[in-house]
Amino acid sequence: MNIILLGPPGAGKGTQAKRLEESKKLIQLSTGDMLREAVANGTEYGKKAKDIMEAGGLVSDDIVLSIVSERLDQDDIKGGFILDGIPRNVAQAETLDTMLAEKNLPLDAVVELVVDDEALVERITGRYTCAKCGQGYHDKFEQPAREGVCDKCGSTEFKRRADDNAETVRSRLKVYHEQTEPLVGYYGSKGILKKVDGMADIDDVTSQIGEALA
Ligand code: AP5
Ligand code: MG
Repeated sequence: MNIILLGPPGAGKGTQAKRLEESKKLIQLSTGDMLREAVANGTEYGKKAKDIMEAGGLVSDDIVLSIVSERLDQDDIKGGFILDGIPRNVAQAETLDTMLAEKNLPLDAVVELVVDDEALVERITGRYTCAKCGQGYHDKFEQPAREGVCDKCGSTEFKRRADDNAETVRSRLKVYHEQTEPLVGYYGSKGILKKVDGMADIDDVTSQIGEALA
């Protein structure tokens, strides 16, 4: 099964993608994670992306599409994948359609996580991840069972994203409404869009996604 998780910054795309990796054995392809890795490694793409990401803008379509295209050529995605963070505008969606058709990787569904803007700022500013395995947490909504220790790998080091501050979040939300939200209509007209109430608690959203994909 090949799906897209669509939704604004902080909607829960990464959280739910990780759960789908476990439950459905799909591979998460997060363009944000790939770009952050490129920035951390100081690659050519990373150097171009760094300032744009920290300001909450969109990295160029060419860069993200070529990173994703290379990733889709690897064998591990043949059992199914979740696109998290791409497409981000109609131009990316159109190129992605052509790319997926050429690679014979048809999309089964686009799941939209619908969340109010006010909730997103709180979610993003409280977010942190395990520095070792990347497991996601939240100061208020998703804490590790033992304080300061990752549930998944036992690490005691955690990190926060450079773009997770209130000012950058506002820019990211503006970009979402102007450029990414039109994709709801784009995929709706193709008949593959499934809407999920992303305001519900994390387990509830997981169940709704399970039902939408059944
Ligand atoms: P990206 O990494 O994709 O960030 P984003 O879209 O802004 O989304 P987030 O990762 O912030 O949120 P999420 O939906 O994954 O939420 P999460 O599950 O973590 O992109 C970053 C940047 O990279 C972009 O700004 C851009 O510059 C660049 N970029 C990436 N892709 C690009 C592309 N295709 N083209 C151009 N540029 C691109 O959840 C958030 C928090 O809320 C967590 O702490 C979680 O525990 C909590 N939470 C989750 N669900 C719930 C719930 N139901 N109730 C309560 N809390 C919840
Ligand atoms: Mg994410």
